[in-house]
Amino acid sequence: MGWSKERLQEVARTRLGGAKLIVVANREPYIHRYKDGEVEWIRPAGGLTTALDPVMQACGGVWVAHGSGDADRAVTDASGRVGVPPDDPNYVLRRVWLSKDDEEGYYYGTANSMLWPLCHQVFARPVFDQIHWETYRKVNETFAEAVLEEAQGGPALVFVQDYHFALLPRLLKAARPDLVVAQFWHIPWPGPEKFLVCPWARELLDGMLGNDLFGFHTQNDCNNFLECVDRALECRIDRERFAVQRSGQVTTVRPFPISVDPELAQEYLGDDWEDRANAMRKKHRLGDRALIVGVDRVDYTKGIPERLQAVDRLLQKHPELKGQFHFLQVGAPSRTHIPAYRDLTEEVNMLAERINWEHGTEDWQPVVFLNEHHGPDDIFVLYRASAGCVVSSLHDGMNLVAKEFVTARDDDRGVLVLSQFTGAARELPDAVIVNPFDVEEMADGLYASLTMPAQEQERRMRRMRAQVDDHNIYRWAGVLLSAIGKLIPDTSEVLPTQVEPDPLDVIEREIARENYITALRLTSG
Ligand code: G6P
Repeated sequence: MGWSKERLQEVARTRLGGAKLIVVANREPYIHRYKDGEVEWIRPAGGLTTALDPVMQACGGVWVAHGSGDADRAVTDASGRVGVPPDDPNYVLRRVWLSKDDEEGYYYGTANSMLWPLCHQVFARPVFDQIHWETYRKVNETFAEAVLEEAQGGPALVFVQDYHFALLPRLLKAARPDLVVAQFWHIPWPGPEKFLVCPWARELLDGMLGNDLFGFHTQNDCNNFLECVDRALECRIDRERFAVQRSGQVTTVRPFPISVDPELAQEYLGDDWEDRANAMRKKHRLGDRALIVGVDRVDYTKGIPERLQAVDRLLQKHPELKGQFHFLQVGAPSRTHIPAYRDLTEEVNMLAERINWEHGTEDWQPVVFLNEHHGPDDIFVLYRASAGCVVSSLHDGMNLVAKEFVTARDDDRGVLVLSQFTGAARELPDAVIVNPFDVEEMADGLYASLTMPAQEQERRMRRMRAQVDDHNIYRWAGVLLSAIGKLIPDTSEVLPTQVEPDPLDVIEREIARENYITALRLTSG
């Protein structure tokens, strides 16, 4: 039986046994902002909100997040609450207000200048700054207060997201030992040689071990995490069950590869996607040429300069392609106060300009760089209208653009060129898998996206679509909730007798099988 919104709702009802669901994530699923004096709302770029919003729409509850839009306060009540989605509310967004100094130390500092580079193997140097660290601690406390307020008066499951809140689980458990606390880390986890250089490694790990359940995308991330814990802290590690015991608290550590809601593609495409695609072609002077698209936040982990270099190399190797295609990069501005991000935007602009100057003609520019936020309505039209999509991350926990692209291709066409260093590559071996550091291989991957025979595209795309349909976001959340449900003390008594195999066991067997197949594929070249 496949996973749907309805099946997840059923799992949530039985497994949570009436406990309130509270999600905590730094990024809010909807941002209100002023445009021409009016309040409008947008969905932010990034995989976390894309994945979790459908889960919250299915299960209901409260999402606690930083209120980051300039019109956010204008639409919330006195405690920072507002119903979302704004056009048809069915869960609550509780906004937490942060000062500029808070944002500087916690978001731009510890989270995105220290933990982000530390966890991604992309050779960006992490910044270790005492003041940033103290602010990170303080902001984790601020969020703990908001969560505890939301959890008042009954049982609750607090589901914490990502590297912004490593200290939060321990704080919550200290205040309310009865809360069930789980966390999902959306980015990779490094090995001990890398992670343990952090001056606050022990405090971070200890905070994370306040969780009952801790999830990563891959088994490899889980192994790295346990290795770090083993080296840094006094604790007992049960390697059979993948659990850590410390100060009376047991934390189970498991892989849960995240996904998307495949049905949203049809919603975003609608009946008029071709008209909208033509309008975009006209606006950006794309004619009816083939398109290769890239869709990312402008982030140094995404390998955007590497893919531009590959476009350059492609045109050197195949000059006959001049005038035949465009490489269109949608690059949502991201974390722009951090120098490395500003420098990257400049680098991408300069590279695009150089390639266009070198290969372009009066009426044809190979690279089109759209450095602004685009909503899913536009992005899905681009996915659907393109010959190929390139995901060339240098290191990426999962990468949901790869999965979104596949869900948009109900025509069973289109080529996905996918970095081997993404979590998604394990699940989508039918993509053209590339090493983003290898410019020749990347250029050949782009060439494949423009020349692959239709039958071959169809064969690969069908398999990728079946994989994402089956391993969708409802399955991810359902399996996670099942695992969490097992940890909620009294729900086991009210659970119906299990009539089908435990989804957690099923997914574990599947992950093992998929890892085995990927290993075979890699060793056989
Ligand atoms: C990654 C992180 C998320 C984050 C997203 C967008 O996917 O794992 O936590 O929300 O990037 O980044 P931003 O800094 O804009 O929230």
